[in-house]
Amino acid sequence: MRHPILFDTDPGVDDAQAIAIALRHPELELLGLTTTYGNVDVEVATRNALLLAELAGREVPVAQGAAAPLIKPRHPAPAHIHGANGLGDIPLPAVRGRADPRSAAQFIVDTVNGRPGEVTLVAVGPLGNLAAALQLDPTLTERVNRVVIMGGAIREGGNVTPVAEANMFNDPDAAARVLTAGWPLTLVGLDVTHRCVLTPEHMARIEAGQGELGRVLAGSYAFYRDFYRDFLGIEGCCPHDSCALAWLLRPELFTTARGHLTVVTEGDAEGQTIFAPQGRAFIEARWARTPLVEVCLDADGPAVSDWIADSLA
Ligand code: RIB
Ligand code: CA
Repeated sequence: MRHPILFDTDPGVDDAQAIAIALRHPELELLGLTTTYGNVDVEVATRNALLLAELAGREVPVAQGAAAPLIKPRHPAPAHIHGANGLGDIPLPAVRGRADPRSAAQFIVDTVNGRPGEVTLVAVGPLGNLAAALQLDPTLTERVNRVVIMGGAIREGGNVTPVAEANMFNDPDAAARVLTAGWPLTLVGLDVTHRCVLTPEHMARIEAGQGELGRVLAGSYAFYRDFYRDFLGIEGCCPHDSCALAWLLRPELFTTARGHLTVVTEGDAEGQTIFAPQGRAFIEARWARTPLVEVCLDADGPAVSDWIADSLA
């Protein structure tokens, strides 16, 4: 069975790896890429998305979206992690194609409504595009097949603050709307992605298997790997965004739970995701006020990492 997906992204080195899987995997039908600011400015994200599709020899619509958070001022892009060009500052070929004239939000609404009940939204950046799509059409929640989000942390600490994961922290107001919208939703957060390491051996196999696209994935990986070595002492990198696709296609590798999510939008804990397991009574009822969702608590990290490399090798 092929899963029809829309992939919302801020490429980004680990986004690029996930986009490659979305473009290449035989069990996925990629209906389009929608772009947001986050790892880079949104114009750069759009250029990278167009480029990656062209290098894979695919004609896939790319629709540009959010340039800034819904409400708060934007945090600076992490050029020390992804490079100023989002792809490790390696030289990149010119892009031939152009973005779809529609906004990312309109593109999401049109695509989901065009195939009611079929489309899975996979989002791996700040969540402004999904929040804007909900604003355009609140009934979208009834016609999406599922929403899979790389973001948040349940038991794991944060990666940009002690409690917040980057995609949540970059737009907590959008995240709060999207995570509590009442659609079928799975959160794949740092509890999973920090168990996974894409090693240099994995990347050598990917480079050998992906032609011109492999050159860009390997070059950008080298830059990203330096960050992981210098800041986290890991020999390799966490393939955050690919984990969302791994959950979609290999859910048996993950441990999940159902419950209620809250996103903190103000104060020191801004961007934190708080999870209240289904049926667990806390001192106040308010932790159960949001709709039930599914969150990942753990994964077989080596198996997920191997699946990512195998998918691209
Ligand atoms: O916290 C990991 C997430 O933030 C990933 O989506 C990665 O691309 C970064 O932006
Ligand atoms: Ca991302």
